[in-house]
Amino acid sequence: MGDLVLRPVALSDTDALFQVVDANRAYLRRWLPWVDSSLSVEDTRKYREISARQHAAREALQVVILLAGEPIGMVGFHRFDWANRSTSIGYWLAEAHQGHGYMTSACRALIEIVFSTWELNRIEIRCAPGNTRSRAIPERLGFRIEGTHRSAEWLYDHFEDLVVYSLLADEFTSSKATR
Ligand SMILES: CC(C)(COP(=O)(O)OP(=O)(O)OC[C@H]1O[C@@H](n2cnc3c(N)ncnc32)[C@H](O)[C@@H]1OP(=O)(O)O)[C@@H](O)C(=O)NCCC(=O)NCCS
Repeated sequence: MGDLVLRPVALSDTDALFQVVDANRAYLRRWLPWVDSSLSVEDTRKYREISARQHAAREALQVVILLAGEPIGMVGFHRFDWANRSTSIGYWLAEAHQGHGYMTSACRALIEIVFSTWELNRIEIRCAPGNTRSRAIPERLGFRIEGTHRSAEWLYDHFEDLVVYSLLADEFTSSKATR
């Protein structure tokens, strides 16, 4: 994973990220509800402006994944619940960059920061039952299944259930000790 860089998304990433989404539209649309509302560079810029405001307010954080300097995907904390020391993670990767462990590595690195530096206690990941590639990520990282939220996400023309995975700080620490 030598060439992989993670950093908070910036307004200057707008054009490059739009190109990646545009080139991966059909594939991303299979599981992500926002693809049809990101139809132009201007749409992407609006999202980036919202991200910048949320980041400044410590409400949420979107991170871009760069491979050899080029964006290949994103991983984000939808919302920080500082009172309950809890957050949730979402992610996507360009289709051509699947299968190398990039997203598992990115999530592992961010989880380390969430628990060690930010001292949060709980991370949640929600995946549709049929999204096997996505589900494999929390499963690889030692998350536990808590249950299934029924019809929890509207995906263009139907509802999807969402399987809820969570990882707690002490589980991550003790799994590190045995690695
Ligand atoms: C979900 C998504 C990010 C998963 O991508 P991915 O490439 O399967 O995940 P990773 O980058 O962690 O790679 C894991 C794969 O790399 C392989 N791999 C290679 N080296 C690895 C390593 N060092 N560590 C972990 N996995 C490794 C794994 O075996 C696995 O491949 P396999 O499924 O063919 O066995 C991607 O499919 C995607 O963006 N989908 C569309 C959007 C989406 O569904 N988002 C989630 C909504 S909940």
